[in-house]
Amino acid sequence: MERTFIAVKPDGIQRGLCGEIIKRFEQRGFRLVACKMIQASEEHMKTHYADLKETPFYGGLCKYMASGPILAMVWEGRSIVKLARMMLGETNPAESKPGSIRGDLCIDIGRNVIHGSDTVENAKREIDLWFKADEMLDYAPCA
Ligand code: CMP
Repeated sequence: MERTFIAVKPDGIQRGLCGEIIKRFEQRGFRLVACKMIQASEEHMKTHYADLKETPFYGGLCKYMASGPILAMVWEGRSIVKLARMMLGETNPAESKPGSIRGDLCIDIGRNVIHGSDTVENAKREIDLWFKADEMLDYAPCA
């Protein structure tokens, strides 16, 4: 079964949006297999966002993501990487359709509430970076 890494960013935590975000994933039929509150170091965020190293916003992004707690999660389900990205909306909330998480909950690209892995390969890399194997649970969906 496919898994993806989802994180509620510091702005999402401050605005009390964790429940809303978890509700959307549960209602879509996905399974939460790991979840923890964590304040990441800037070094950790630099590794997480390594593919954005050459962008002008890399430094600010990593600093911001380390500035407060994050809700780090692993979700599981069929085609979840692609479907979660659709649920999130576009990276820029201003281009996100109503009904998507960013389209409903935010307007600023630098405070876009949530992160979701963009490919199956990156999902594997990000899950390994944020979670140990024994922090993830295997359990059956409801019958
Ligand atoms: P995320 O899905 O976490 O992936 C990379 C993040 O970089 C993205 O969400 C935004 O928060 C951030 N980002 C992307 N483009 C810009 C930009 N032009 N200015 C500031 N932050 C950006």
